[in-house]
Amino acid sequence: MAKKGLFITFEGADGCGKTTQLKLLAQYLEQKGREILITREPGGKGLGEKVREILLNYDGDVSPRCEEFLFLADRAQNIDIIVNPAIKSGKIVLCDRHTDSTIAYQGYGRGLDIDRIKNLNNMATNGRIPDLTFIFDIDTKTSMQRVGKEKDRMESAGIEFHNRVRQGYLEIAKQEPNRVKVLDATKSIEEIHKKVVEIVNFHIIG
Ligand code: TYD
Repeated sequence: MAKKGLFITFEGADGCGKTTQLKLLAQYLEQKGREILITREPGGKGLGEKVREILLNYDGDVSPRCEEFLFLADRAQNIDIIVNPAIKSGKIVLCDRHTDSTIAYQGYGRGLDIDRIKNLNNMATNGRIPDLTFIFDIDTKTSMQRVGKEKDRMESAGIEFHNRVRQGYLEIAKQEPNRVKVLDATKSIEEIHKKVVEIVNFHIIG
């Protein structure tokens, strides 16, 4: 029987270790015989990577609404060109950041209207919702230490901004406990991976 495609997203502060966990889960699922597709927002491939370059490295003024729409444009491209075709062909898609990043960073972080972002997210994704989302929670001081001195445009937004982002993520998890699972990102890589696997097996592979 054809395998069912799935969509899992990885969220959290800069430096929370989500990309490492995404790769470990990909290896685990491949060993279980599943086909995996990895993508990221902003980015993915082609045009998405060009939008990423602007979002992370442009050094002139960027209005918060322009930033918001660039993330959303990138998301529409990622969903249409990468995510949906892969899910349709039975793959498990692992996506490094998605809709919850916009709610946390542009909504809670920059102070744009959250309900409006949710509507715009819905337009950008054409209604696609992740089957499961991990938030790797970490205190802002530790995450900024992990990022180090070389910061991109978003990482340079300041400690207050990043505190609001963290609170935003925790609020999202409270509102959607079935889809969103919060893990303590200060634990060891192995411990966190074990939890990720447990949750994936329990909730969607099972
Ligand atoms: P990412 O590549 O995950 O950075 P890192 O590897 O440092 O965690 O994400 C790029 C940055 O873009 C990150 O600072 C979060 C930000 N971002 C938003 O502000 N809004 C969004 O909708 C997305 C997808 C990312």
